[in-house]
Amino acid sequence: MKRRSSIYHFLIAILLAASVAPMLRAWEREPLSVFAERRAKLIAAVNAPVVLFGYTGHEEANPSYVFMQEENFYYLTGHNEEGAALLLVPESALQKGWSGPREILYLPPRDLAEEKWNGPRIGPDDPGIQGRTGFARVETFAKLHDELAALAKNYPEIYTELPGPHDDGFPHAANWSKWVKDAAPQATLKDVSSAVGTLRAIKTPGELALIQKAIDPSIDAHLEAMKMVRPGLYEYQVGARMVDIHSYAGCETEAYAPIVGTGINSTVLHYNKLDRRIEDGDVVLMDVGGQYSGYASDITRTIPANGKFTARQREIYEIVLGAQNAALEALRPGMTLGGPASTSLQKIAMDYIDSHGKDKDGHPLGRYYIHGLSHHVGLNVHDPSGPARPLEPGMVITIEPGIYIPDEKLGVRIEDDVLITATGYKLLTARLPRSPDEIEKIMADGKAAREKQRP
Ligand code: GLY
Ligand code: MN
Ligand code: MN
Repeated sequence: MKRRSSIYHFLIAILLAASVAPMLRAWEREPLSVFAERRAKLIAAVNAPVVLFGYTGHEEANPSYVFMQEENFYYLTGHNEEGAALLLVPESALQKGWSGPREILYLPPRDLAEEKWNGPRIGPDDPGIQGRTGFARVETFAKLHDELAALAKNYPEIYTELPGPHDDGFPHAANWSKWVKDAAPQATLKDVSSAVGTLRAIKTPGELALIQKAIDPSIDAHLEAMKMVRPGLYEYQVGARMVDIHSYAGCETEAYAPIVGTGINSTVLHYNKLDRRIEDGDVVLMDVGGQYSGYASDITRTIPANGKFTARQREIYEIVLGAQNAALEALRPGMTLGGPASTSLQKIAMDYIDSHGKDKDGHPLGRYYIHGLSHHVGLNVHDPSGPARPLEPGMVITIEPGIYIPDEKLGVRIEDDVLITATGYKLLTARLPRSPDEIEKIMADGKAAREKQRP
């Protein structure tokens, strides 16, 4: 009887959990073993001590800031709380007096007063902390300084994140590399970012699943935008609806500031004011994508404000679509995003645009294609990787040609996300139509549904 009742309670609990689950917005994390594999690969590649720092939670003063982990740190640890650090010790240290685990997660001690405000955190002395973090050794942050100093006596080089050329406004790497220099003054600091970036470029199945979970609601948002756009709406109203759809589906934030540009604003690449009224005869460019459990999507569609492309809008649209299709046709392992090589996808798109259509003065249109064709997508919408690195299976990139003619108040970009496979690619955004006819049909259906609803 007792046994039956506990089974009964267990089943009820499962049913309750199942019915509650869709209401929760749970951060999905890959298995801890995946993060451990990444750390093993990194330390084998670098073969010197690596020290990395998570964000402190004080990176921004903006009151609406919500903590999100530093990407490389998250990629290697899966740890999504403030004030942590990671030390990786090379295997050679075992001959130099190092004993015990060669991966250590350093956590700040728990602050119960702070937890009253911000909720529970995990701490180095929590029971079972090793199992919860996937680290055989978890220490209090205060220990890192002396352990690093001792390690540095045997190693002339230490790898950490060094500030990049564009990091002026982001003091994370500058501050922490200075901290490392203070702890190990005789060591030469080397930048670990490119070694982590090399790993990050090849996605695990778990990462692919999360990217798809960012893409799916973003496609839904674009479809909804196609149905709602009409003259008289404001750009921000379209953006708001799209963000709402992402958020409702479980995205924690946008992958980047939404771009909804009508008329002349369609020619501004990273336009983010969203304060203009949509006018009859405009095109509306929407580059909007959600972020799910840390992973980005990146999708652009360009549509006619009144539901019908003009002849000129359609001509330019079809040239951009032709360039995208030309790049997709050539897409396979071994191709490169850019660079001078004959494998350059950028060159394929540029050649297509430059050999189709003209501006009002009879010039080829290549001069209006003013950005790169592609970038990697992952924990960052612009994931690290150079344009010359040959593509490999498991990489996720965008294909996003565009033509922007300010004189004609006409900007068109079409942006899709693709996975490189062994033989070619898989279009991850395939559910979102690209052809002008299909777009016009969706807009017409949206208009008809609106009219039906009208009293
Ligand atoms: N949404 C930014 C980009 O397309 O690169
Ligand atoms: Mn992009
Ligand atoms: Mn984009």
